[in-house]
Amino acid sequence: MCGIFGYIGEDDPLQTCLLGLEQLEYRGYDSTGIAGLVDGQIAICKEVGKLSQLKAKLTLQRLTIAIGHTRWATHGKVTPVNAHPHQDVQEAIALVHNGIIENYEELKEELHTQGVRFQTETDTEVLTNLIAKCYTGDLVQAVQKALLRVRGHFAFALVHKHHPQEIIAAARECPLSIGVNDAHTESIISSDPNAFLGKTLNVLFLRSGEIAKVEKGKVSVFDSQLRSLAKKTERLDAGTAAPSKEGFEHFMLKEIYEQPSTVQKAYLGRLEEGEVQFESLSEEFRTPSQICFIACGTSAHAGAIGALLVEDFAAIPSHYEIASEARYRILPQNTLIVAISQSGETADTLAAVREMKARGYKVLGICNVKNSTLTRETDACIFLKAGPEVSVCSTKAFTSQITVLYLFAQFLSGKRVSEDLKNVPAQIEKVLECAPRIQQIAKKYSRFNNFFFLGRRYMFPTCMEAALKLKEISYVNANGYAAGELKHGPIALLDPHFPVIAFCANHQTEEKIVSNVQEVKARSAPILALAPESLKGIAKIVDDVIWLPNTSDALAPFASTVAGQLFAYFVAKERGCDIDQPRNLAKSVTVE
Ligand code: F6R
Repeated sequence: MCGIFGYIGEDDPLQTCLLGLEQLEYRGYDSTGIAGLVDGQIAICKEVGKLSQLKAKLTLQRLTIAIGHTRWATHGKVTPVNAHPHQDVQEAIALVHNGIIENYEELKEELHTQGVRFQTETDTEVLTNLIAKCYTGDLVQAVQKALLRVRGHFAFALVHKHHPQEIIAAARECPLSIGVNDAHTESIISSDPNAFLGKTLNVLFLRSGEIAKVEKGKVSVFDSQLRSLAKKTERLDAGTAAPSKEGFEHFMLKEIYEQPSTVQKAYLGRLEEGEVQFESLSEEFRTPSQICFIACGTSAHAGAIGALLVEDFAAIPSHYEIASEARYRILPQNTLIVAISQSGETADTLAAVREMKARGYKVLGICNVKNSTLTRETDACIFLKAGPEVSVCSTKAFTSQITVLYLFAQFLSGKRVSEDLKNVPAQIEKVLECAPRIQQIAKKYSRFNNFFFLGRRYMFPTCMEAALKLKEISYVNANGYAAGELKHGPIALLDPHFPVIAFCANHQTEEKIVSNVQEVKARSAPILALAPESLKGIAKIVDDVIWLPNTSDALAPFASTVAGQLFAYFVAKERGCDIDQPRNLAKSVTVE
């Protein structure tokens, strides 16, 4: 994951870099660091922890050029020495890196025999020294030569003390964008062009294998054979407003409360008079013989709901695959691949998309972030329009994804459709009104360390999503399970210290989930039910109930999800966890 930023131009490089890193912190917050040139020498400052910790200890003076990094650790523990930027043994180069050098052990050994003594456990230090070994006066050439030896996927930027006016950047299957202003007085490098806050720039995206020489107001790009390339640029106005919590205690809570509006934004202009229209979808997307949704984490749970919706509305066989496993599957021809990603930068999802495209499948993207890699690599893309999701724990993106998937399933049906989706914002409002009661219940359950979340049909992926929310921000063991499976083994775990959260809002399977709840009760496990108002009788069986508005099975995931998000949020708050930036995680997962 990791975020890379670089600046050369008339603004203060150090301050610009710090601003850029603030926008990139979502990509990792294990450590941060900045390097640049002071009086012809490399100067570096790095710290374990968040950017605020680096700022508190910043020892750098005014730099003439700067590169910066936010780390999500892959190779090597979270220690000061493993933090980026890294240097070669001669201290001529400083380098920041996102990605993985797969053959770093082999290269390390080779460099060791040539006398290089390593200080860190990172693959990045190996890459830096390899480039230094290949250097004979031309930095671009040194990078090109070194990359011939390197396996893996990466994006990096480096400075060299003998080249005070240039930053060299390169990428292979990891995002890297470079922007130049109209006046040609500055150039910025970033893992994410949305970090070019307050700037209007002409931006190019490095494609796999490309190397860029970035100077003040000028970029030259070369392919892996060092042939000069004419790259197209896109004009990008990154706006000036940094995301704000708008009075909420956490971004997560703010984003939970945004959902009545973000769901509405996802269907607005797409569902009119019983017809679904997507601005970006041609008729050829209407007739797949089968659909395979691919995604990771929360987006994969949306894909699982998408598969149920498509089968129910359009009777097209559908399933979902975890992106990191999808590439090993055999799929029939004329299968449409639908890749779902909030960030559009998830490495597992992108790798699966590339594999599927190479095999000749048509790929549709569903994405939130404009200009992200997924939006450029798919055949068409539907945007969520949910606005930036800052909290690492995904909430509003999920409900926007299932809104778009609901519409997409209706689109595939080819019929006039009901507009019941338009009732969802009001249903979510109703759940939000119950927040104080959910908080009370969460307080009671916050002392447990193990949970099962059970559901059937639409409530199965919904409960997996709710369990994921709880585990990622509260660090408790919470597993989403198909309710029918419990008796096939996991029921052995139940006792009075192992609560079950039963998702009961799927009418078609109501009687069966009630039976499963009875089985749990017989084992003396505490039970919290998330149930529609119509299922009054459940209150007599379970310990606690969060009541949800009555709705159809296909729309039930919305209200149940929001209740699950609030439950997870309040448990994490009660346990004193870092809700917006949970340990070990990052918002955008750019390594496989
Ligand atoms: C969980 C969460 C992750 C992401 C997953 C995929 O709250 O945020 O599970 O859903 O890493 O990310 P995207 O959707 O950006 O591809």
